[in-house]
Amino acid sequence: MRTLVIGDLHLYASAFRKPDHHAARKLSAASRDLARLAASYAARGPIEIVLSGDVYDLAATGSSPVEQRLAKIAAHHEELHEALRDVCRRGGRVVFIPGNHDYELLNEAAQRWVETHIPGARVQPWFYRVRDVAHIEHGNQHDPDNAHPHPLLPDGDPLGILLTRQLLHRLGDLRLLELNDRTPVPMLLHCFWNYGLRTPGMVLRYVLVGLAATRRARLPDAAQRAEASARLDRFVKDAGLDRAAVQQLVDTSPRPTHTDGDVLFRRMYLDRTLLGAATLFATLAALLLGAPRVALGIFGVAAAIGAIFGMYKNVYRGRVQDLLQAKAHSLAGEAAVRHVVFGHAHKEYDDGAYLNPGSFAFPPKKGLRTFVEIDGDDARLMHMHAGEGVVDLAPRIVAFNNVAFNNVAFNSAPRAKSADHDVDAKKVG
Ligand SMILES: [Fe+2]
Repeated sequence: MRTLVIGDLHLYASAFRKPDHHAARKLSAASRDLARLAASYAARGPIEIVLSGDVYDLAATGSSPVEQRLAKIAAHHEELHEALRDVCRRGGRVVFIPGNHDYELLNEAAQRWVETHIPGARVQPWFYRVRDVAHIEHGNQHDPDNAHPHPLLPDGDPLGILLTRQLLHRLGDLRLLELNDRTPVPMLLHCFWNYGLRTPGMVLRYVLVGLAATRRARLPDAAQRAEASARLDRFVKDAGLDRAAVQQLVDTSPRPTHTDGDVLFRRMYLDRTLLGAATLFATLAALLLGAPRVALGIFGVAAAIGAIFGMYKNVYRGRVQDLLQAKAHSLAGEAAVRHVVFGHAHKEYDDGAYLNPGSFAFPPKKGLRTFVEIDGDDARLMHMHAGEGVVDLAPRIVAFNNVAFNNVAFNSAPRAKSADHDVDAKKVG
């Protein structure tokens, strides 16, 4: 049975206001395309569809009971859900792996909803294995800003989800998510451009949310650790895995940002934001009091402090992709699997050992939706053309740099670097 891995759909149901209606249209088109893709494969025989996390953007869908939010999203994307039901009716399988935006799928109520709404489908906590061929996981557990203290016991919102829920959902503007690895200046410019005079209030809210989260930051207590251990026992038993090996995966997870107040304070750039706000306030006050030299002095001192402490640098850009790539290669060896498939980064990747289908809903190359196909012992990136009509499939060859093909230690032989790779790498850019 062939397996298709679909990444990061981020389906939501809110009637977002103006800034985000464009994204809502894109999501409807993506869910229709996935329905066509599933139907096209299912017509040739039973298939397995693995939705590898962030299929539902529950963080962007309010805070009502999770089963109500799921039902609301499904009503907006009925064609896709009918296609998934059809995959199961034809003897196939549908597996949901929770991501950071839909970690609430771990709740019993959410699992019951999935099993009832798509008979034959199920939620697989944390990761899913296709024999010794592929380890499939969302990947947020390797990104400190979106990890939980334990992959089977979510505790509080990780930083990325906290900001989605507390700020982006309230604004109805998920485009800020795409700026998440940038410094505050591009975010501020985006806000001033779109929200004008509402921006100072938004900055104040950001600071208050950040300070409250900094105060709450803590590691799990003894009772939570015991519960996590019990869940791990059940997980390895159900999946038929070696407990010590899986425990090692837990132990090598990075400490989540939201559990360490100092790290969280710096990661949210609260030092820069507070220095910037204080400077602005003091400079304006000096100008209003008729002391322009004092204003200039205050501004100069603040700029110098920022420069000395490297506060203008972006220390997080590209970190998620690097972390996932490194983890995938080490995991392939530790778990003795040929391929590791992560999502989360919204960036397509395939070097033979590490594959990432990117986001099915928001592809970087317009008109091409990417997914992973696992057939026999091989896994590869495939693409389909977006839009109505016959589903047109082809292998998707991507390479971000040639180093990925040559310098990484694989436990399985990497694909030969062919002339095709070079040609396509140039095309993809
Ligand atoms: Fe994610």
